[in-house]
Amino acid sequence: MKKYEDIRIKNLIIKNRLILPPMASTTGSLEHRVTDETIAYYSRIAKTGHLGLIIVEHAFVSPEGAASRHQLSISRDSDIEGLKALASAIHSYDIPAICQINHAGGAIRSVDTGHRNIGPSTNLGLKYFEPDISMNNEDIDRVISDFVSGALRAKEAGFDAVEIHSAHGYLLNQFYSPLSNLRDDDYGGSIENRLRIHFEIIKGIRENLGDEYPIFIRLGASDYMEKGNTIYDGKEASILLEKAGVDLIDVSGGLCFYRRPGKEDEQGYFSDASRIIKRNVSVPVILTGGIREISVAEKLIDDREADLIGIGRPILKDQEWLGKLF
Ligand SMILES: Cc1cc2nc3c(=O)[nH]c(=O)nc-3n(C[C@H](O)[C@H](O)[C@H](O)COP(=O)(O)O)c2cc1C
Repeated sequence: MKKYEDIRIKNLIIKNRLILPPMASTTGSLEHRVTDETIAYYSRIAKTGHLGLIIVEHAFVSPEGAASRHQLSISRDSDIEGLKALASAIHSYDIPAICQINHAGGAIRSVDTGHRNIGPSTNLGLKYFEPDISMNNEDIDRVISDFVSGALRAKEAGFDAVEIHSAHGYLLNQFYSPLSNLRDDDYGGSIENRLRIHFEIIKGIRENLGDEYPIFIRLGASDYMEKGNTIYDGKEASILLEKAGVDLIDVSGGLCFYRRPGKEDEQGYFSDASRIIKRNVSVPVILTGGIREISVAEKLIDDREADLIGIGRPILKDQEWLGKLF
């Protein structure tokens, strides 16, 4: 990768503009712990070099927010030990490690987790993301507190930053999208209201982890669906999230998931969103989605469409793939 300046976010120094986006590796145990396989998987990736950051796959902040059987948990203090070993394995290759924290909300059916299936609203008429229960204020306060506790554990485990997952139709994305948030209280309606739970989580993390701990957000900027969020909502949301204190915006898709129907072959298929966001915030912006060539990654950076470029699925399939590009 052509030489670009390091990016500095507080004490975090990013020395390469290519990054590993969070991707569920399904290497967690059935108890949702980090396994030897998890460590070996991330070590193979880190060893190749060329990466400025490794964002570890989503870990659930509470059992009701679990998304899958082999997902990692960050919901118990006893998870810290395994996560610490993982962060330390990545650090041994001199690459910063970021922990993504998530609550799946209505994106998962109750039958899958044995827990209540909650979300901002019910009866959405959507094919996916159908919560059984609309969250009351107590539920909202509990989820905020679970995210803050998850972030505290990420720091304790030695991660260099925490990334809040608000993309791909999971709980926080469900609040942000007008397609899944039909509330008429303080948490629904205007974009400020749809992001209120995000602001409260960010505030809680700041208060507990201090001003120097970097907070990233993965934002499902646009839904690319009728009546859903547009790239202009993504821009407004990013401005508001930066004001609320996030240190980086990691752009992905909303209720369209991480895909861009009809544009799958385009390298950087969310660049319409990342470009408008990049031009309106001063924090670094990550773009991921379909990027497979170094020359394309460099062009996206040179054209100011993003500061950092994520490459996912090829590395998920072959952890040594990146090394073969150079
Ligand atoms: C199997 C799989 C698991 C994923 N898990 C996560 C995840 O845990 N958190 C997340 O934000 N995105 C997740 N993603 C989305 C990726 O981070 C990325 O945005 C997507 O693969 C598109 O980028 P790519 O074309 O470079 O693969 C996942 C994608 C795949 C294929």
